[in-house]
Amino acid sequence: MQDVDAIVQEALALFAGIADADELERAKARYLGKSGVLAELNKGLGRLPPAERPVTGSRFNAAKDRIETALAEQRERIQARKLEARLAEEALDVTLPGRGLGVGGLHPVTRTMQRIETLFRSLGFEVAHGPEIETDYYNFTALNQPENHPARSMHDTFYLAGGKHLLRTHTSPIQIHYMETHRPPVKLIAPGRVYRVDSDATHSPMFHQVEGLWIDERVTFANLKGVLIDFLRHFFEREDLEVRFRPSFFPFTEPSAEIDMSFGDAWLEIGGAGMVHPNVLRNVNVDSERYQGFAFGLGPDRLTMLRYGVNDLRLFFENDLRFLKQFN
Ligand code: DAH
Repeated sequence: MQDVDAIVQEALALFAGIADADELERAKARYLGKSGVLAELNKGLGRLPPAERPVTGSRFNAAKDRIETALAEQRERIQARKLEARLAEEALDVTLPGRGLGVGGLHPVTRTMQRIETLFRSLGFEVAHGPEIETDYYNFTALNQPENHPARSMHDTFYLAGGKHLLRTHTSPIQIHYMETHRPPVKLIAPGRVYRVDSDATHSPMFHQVEGLWIDERVTFANLKGVLIDFLRHFFEREDLEVRFRPSFFPFTEPSAEIDMSFGDAWLEIGGAGMVHPNVLRNVNVDSERYQGFAFGLGPDRLTMLRYGVNDLRLFFENDLRFLKQFN
């Protein structure tokens, strides 16, 4: 029994060096297990002469106590360290500044659209919308542009597979949708995306238009001029802005005009307009003897370029934040 103290020392040293809970349990088995070191010692105890048993027995029990105590303490230490490590890892510094939210902004073309809507609403126009995927009928035929009409070649159209549908090439089909569901007087603008097979510094395969339509019993070309001049002067905040109506052709208007605005010494084309062709009214069962009015189509991308001095249309659609952030 002389080696009892040595065994205790050895166990204590071993436990103290263990940092892993499972490993500690394996070390425990080595000393306190069924066939562990202490169990072996215990067997020897029975073979001692009776007189020696009490002393040796109590030394044995004391040794067992110390090992058990040391084991429990080491278990606690391992637990505590584990907790500490977890707390350190999950530490939350509540004094750090918050991450904050990135403040977004409106796209310059969206700003223009909103501005256009506000100005036209103030003139009593509704805002209407229509589908971007159209049929031939709405995009061309109903707008007085039959199958073989030469004006159809003016649009390089994206046809969808199957050939029955197309991406609208202008917002004019909204005139038809609107008048199919509303009787005159109608007074609306219709902003939206349109598509053409076209791409360079001033043309993008997707761009925007705002359609205008005002039909009533006495709406004249003078009203058209008044509305557009008033709109453009407010939009650009320039009382001296000049607007020119240059004779032109569109199948859905008669007479038709291109709208130009003064820009420095130059004239810039910003849209088309005209008096709605009686055939268009007939196609939506509106009495063209009683009703008449004007329509126009404006290019809000162009208006945005002019308002902010942007010289390349493609910048609007590349989504480069360095460009877009300048408008907020
Ligand atoms: N839809 C025409 C285009 O995309 C623009 C246009 C011209 C619209 C005259 C109109 C209009 O409503 O009256 O080229």
